[in-house]
Order: sequence, then C-alpha cells, then structure tokens
Amino acid sequence: MADKISFEPPRGMRDFYPEDMAWRNRVFDAFRAAGEAAGFRQYDACVVESYELLARKAGEEVGEQIYHFLDKSERHLALRAEMTPTLARMVAQRQKELSFPLKWTTIAQCFRYERMTKGRKREHYQWNLDIIGEDSVLAEVEVIGAACDALRRMGLSSSDFKVHVSSRKFLGELLSQSGIAAERHAQVFLALDKRGKMPDAEIAAMLKDGGLSDAEIEATFAIMETKDYSACPELVELFRLAEIAGFADCLEFDISVIRGLSYYTGVVFECFDAKGEFRAIFGGGRYDNLLTTIGGEPATAVGLGFGDVVVTELLKARLGEDAAAARKGIAVGFMFPEQRDAAVAFAAKLRKDGESVDLSLRSQKPKKFFSHAAESGAAEAAFLGPDDVARGTVRVKDLSTREEKEVPLAP
Ligand code: HAM
Repeated sequence: MADKISFEPPRGMRDFYPEDMAWRNRVFDAFRAAGEAAGFRQYDACVVESYELLARKAGEEVGEQIYHFLDKSERHLALRAEMTPTLARMVAQRQKELSFPLKWTTIAQCFRYERMTKGRKREHYQWNLDIIGEDSVLAEVEVIGAACDALRRMGLSSSDFKVHVSSRKFLGELLSQSGIAAERHAQVFLALDKRGKMPDAEIAAMLKDGGLSDAEIEATFAIMETKDYSACPELVELFRLAEIAGFADCLEFDISVIRGLSYYTGVVFECFDAKGEFRAIFGGGRYDNLLTTIGGEPATAVGLGFGDVVVTELLKARLGEDAAAARKGIAVGFMFPEQRDAAVAFAAKLRKDGESVDLSLRSQKPKKFFSHAAESGAAEAAFLGPDDVARGTVRVKDLSTREEKEVPLAP
C-alpha cells in the first residue's frame, strides 16, 4: 500500500475552509471599500519575480526569508515576500507615461520563510496602499487614514488600536546631534529595530560591534526616550492634518518605531492593538529612494502593507469567533422525489429574482433538511411537501427569528 500523504498543508501555508473564507471576505471587503473611498486605483502583478529584484536589499531579515528557485531554463526566480519591489518595477517600466502622483492599491499574496510565531505565517495576504510622486506629508496622512478607515469598517474603533508614528529622518537628526555619523545610522536603525524583541544588553553589543563608543551607545538609548516631536516639522504637520481629517485619536508619536526594511527614508509607522497582545497590524512609511535603487528615475513614495493574519486574530478576539458568519440566502428542500421538479422550478424562479439559493440535491426528511440548512449558514429555508405542491404555495422560514411567510411557488 502506498504511504498515506499528510492532509496538512505545508508548514506555515494555509487552507481556507468556508468559515475561514467568511473572515477573509470580511477583511478583504473592508480593504477594498476603504481603498476605493480614498481614491486608490487597483493593480495586480505576478507572484513570481526575478530573485535579483527582490534581493536588492540583501542583508535584511526579509531578504533571508525569500523562497527562491531555479526554473528549467536556470532563471533565478523567487516568490514575492512583499509587493513594494514589484510596485517599484512596474512604475519604473512606465515612468514616462504615468501621471503622478499615483495612488495604487492591491491585495497581494506574499511568501516569507519565517520562524513560525503567533501572527506570522509563511504565506499571507497583504493589502498595499502606495502614493508615488508626492513629497507632502498629506500622502502619509491619506494612507494612514485609509488604513484606520478599513479597521473601522471591520468593526473596530479607535480604542482597539493605535498607529505608532515616528520619522527615521528625525531620529537620524537626533543621532547626528549626539555625534553619531550618518554612515552609521543604517546600522543603528537595524539594531534599534530589535528593541523589545531582544534584551537591551544585546542591542548595546550590536551597537558596539557597529563601532559606537560607550558614550554614543548611552546617548542612543537616551534618544529612545524622546517624547517631544515639535522639532520635526513633518510630524507636527502630520498630526495637525490627521486632526482635521478626523483620525488623530488613532495616532501616537513613538520614537521606537524604526521598521525592519532598509528603504524607508522619512516618516515610519506601525499599528498595534491597544492592549499590546498581537503583532503589528500594519506598517509602512516613506521610501523616497527605492525607484532609483532599482534603476528608475527619482520618485518620492509613501505606502503601507496591512496583512490579513493579525487583524483576523484581533477581530476574532474582540468580536467573537462567529462574528463573520452572517446568514444569507435561502435553502430549498423537498420531501419525496415527486416534489423534485417543483423544487427545481421554485429555485429557478428565486435565482432569476436575484436570490442565492441552496437547492437540496435529494429528497429528505424535514428535520434533517432544516438542521442542515441552519448549519450551512442560510438565512431562510423552504421545504416542499406534497400538500404544498398541491396548494401551489410554500412556507418560507426565517432561520433566525423562526417566523414564517407563505409564498407562491409559481412565478
Ligand atoms: P512589513 O512590515 O514587512 O512591510 O509587512 C507589513 C504587514 O504585513 C505587517 O504589519 C503584517 O501585518 C503583515 N505581514 C508581514 N509578514 C507577515 C507574515 N509572515 N505573516 C503574516 N503577516 C505578515 C512591508 O512588507 C512593506 N513592503 C510595506 C510597504 C508598502 N511599505 C511601503 N509600501
């Protein structure tokens, strides 16, 4: 006998059973509605990219997590770990024709060979919002505002989450004022990004390896206590505009937000649940040099990635495991084979009227039919017996309220 194959998906990959799809649809519907409400245009791209494009930022965590392979013609290819390099490539390809600033959005499946922890899978869907070709901080305000809007559409309020905002440029200025040379900043950012994930002593050791003196390391940790951002005009303006736009209550200044990806150049932000129980809900920032890094013309850019994994965990915790399972449609069943034609005709009439109908495929006892209908998520159920067909009507039952109404079978 052949060995039985495992029924589990490969580690870190996900199956979506119907109840999982109910959640996914709830999250994706909010992504799409919020993107549309904020005037972003949809785009899409291939999942497989050239390894070279994705590995441009080698040395980073994400770079090490790329799934890559040689195809049969020895092309070095990879599954995308994020959408941003692909977006940059697409923009660079048409940079002369496109009219800027552009506001683009997509929901992209991404793959990362991650160490598996809560909220981290090896495959996830990531909603991306990007504005390319705009210097003003209103671009940051627009992307963050749209992401907060998506969270509200999913059923959360500003008391459930906070967007932690900072600026790498501001942090760089503070480091420079402490005498830490600009060439060292990238390395310092990388070390500081690990705060909270590893003890400060290890971070200090990383900084020392990077060539910082003890005094500079001490100054760096002191900078991480900064609470006042009034010396950073972009942040002052960002908070002011968010106030006018009506979502300043969702924001807070947090100097410790650095972000792991090296292409960020200015404002950076990361959203967390208010109780601090889950991993980051979304993250993003300004990346003004990426287009030139991949060989395009200079173009400023701001964007974010918002994954489906963490937010679904959060929604289940706050709203209940079953909150996505809205009842809809009508189940139609019949008692004996003699009523089958009438049931088919009744289902056809309802479908023509735009109803979603789950027609039973075989005759059933009423009890079995109604319990299956309730379990399948139908909002209503209609069961045809010999008397109903003789009368030419059927009782349609609301499965939540148990109320019934008499409906004619014929059009
Ligand atoms: P990121 O912080 O690497 O940024 O990912 C953004 C979001 O994607 C995270 O906050 C999280 O919600 C989700 N995410 C990332 N990795 C995983 C994973 N392994 N499992 C589950 N969810 C995950 C970026 O990817 C940037 N490219 C975002 C961006 C777009 N910046 C500018 N434009």
